[in-house]
Amino acid sequence: MAKKSQGMRIGILTAGGDCPGLNAAIRGVGKTAIMNYGMQVVGISDGFSGLINKEYQELSEKDLSGILTLGGTILGTSREKPFKSKGKKKNDISKPDLIREHYEQMGLDCLVCIGGNGTLKTAGLLAKEGLNVVGIPKTIDNDVWGTDLTFGFDSAVNIATEAIDRLHSTANSHKRIMLIELMGHNAGWIALYAGIAGGGDVIIIPEIPYSEEKIAEYLVQRSEQQKPYSIVVVAEGIKNPGKERSVAHYLSNRIYEMTGLETRETVLGYIQRGGSPSPMDRVLATRYGTATADMIAKRDFGNMVALRNDKIVSVPLDEVAGKLKLVETDNPLVLQALKLGTCFGN
Ligand code: F6P
Repeated sequence: MAKKSQGMRIGILTAGGDCPGLNAAIRGVGKTAIMNYGMQVVGISDGFSGLINKEYQELSEKDLSGILTLGGTILGTSREKPFKSKGKKKNDISKPDLIREHYEQMGLDCLVCIGGNGTLKTAGLLAKEGLNVVGIPKTIDNDVWGTDLTFGFDSAVNIATEAIDRLHSTANSHKRIMLIELMGHNAGWIALYAGIAGGGDVIIIPEIPYSEEKIAEYLVQRSEQQKPYSIVVVAEGIKNPGKERSVAHYLSNRIYEMTGLETRETVLGYIQRGGSPSPMDRVLATRYGTATADMIAKRDFGNMVALRNDKIVSVPLDEVAGKLKLVETDNPLVLQALKLGTCFGN
């Protein structure tokens, strides 16, 4: 036990879109900090808003029991970006200044920021302002640079795969094309994994530009080969030339216009982010959480905990900021799917 960590006071916040595994991570950090290092733990409400408004609560070891399997976040979250609105002042003080002031008033020795790209960028900027910060990467999108995996992703892929599985039977009964839109604004990881796991015939992701003609040609060919139905999996962030809010509606109409084949679309949406985390996400979030408490005890600040080749490592927040981990066109999964005849629309 590192004696000098005794009495340290750490604040934890969750920011950005929620995802399964956040509570497992909070529990991992908090329990390790209290039980192994004798630290005090403070839960900050609603992401960076809680620091701006000084809304927080002390968390005991007991408060952290029974939350491992819970979806969402017991702390609440928000998309507050304190540096983006730097010009705007609250009570004549800029938001980053308020955060620094409240961090000191709350007696914090360290701030743990659990979030995706936006949150980790803010965490890096707060570290530059002199706060002791550690980042934990989470997002269903799995697009945080510097780590092989974020928790939330495995749960989302499980949910999306089950949805695709269910589309197969109704598609087959009606001899239809079924298009499903999955989350992923910049990165197509969910569509790629769930598309492969669910046997998607067409997988369209933001990283691989698609042509409507190529998709239509492929679907007509399948129909001519007496394949009774087809499943098209698309990520929400692919090019949307239409006026429809969702690309699924646009593409489904276009496919029908171009092929004459009856087509239906499903937008899976927030179901992908809700509910209990998968066992893999519980384990990953717990690993990140406990490793974060160890980092704090070693005063390893200004860094993000990450997974590389199944080892927990620490990556400078500076390096993570402003980058995205995207699917490369020669990703082995893409190449393998191509060998099975999957169409990527290119
Ligand atoms: O970053 C996770 C994510 O679920 C994305 O896949 C999606 O585009 C976005 O969040 C939706 O965000 P919001 O909660 O603001 O609607």
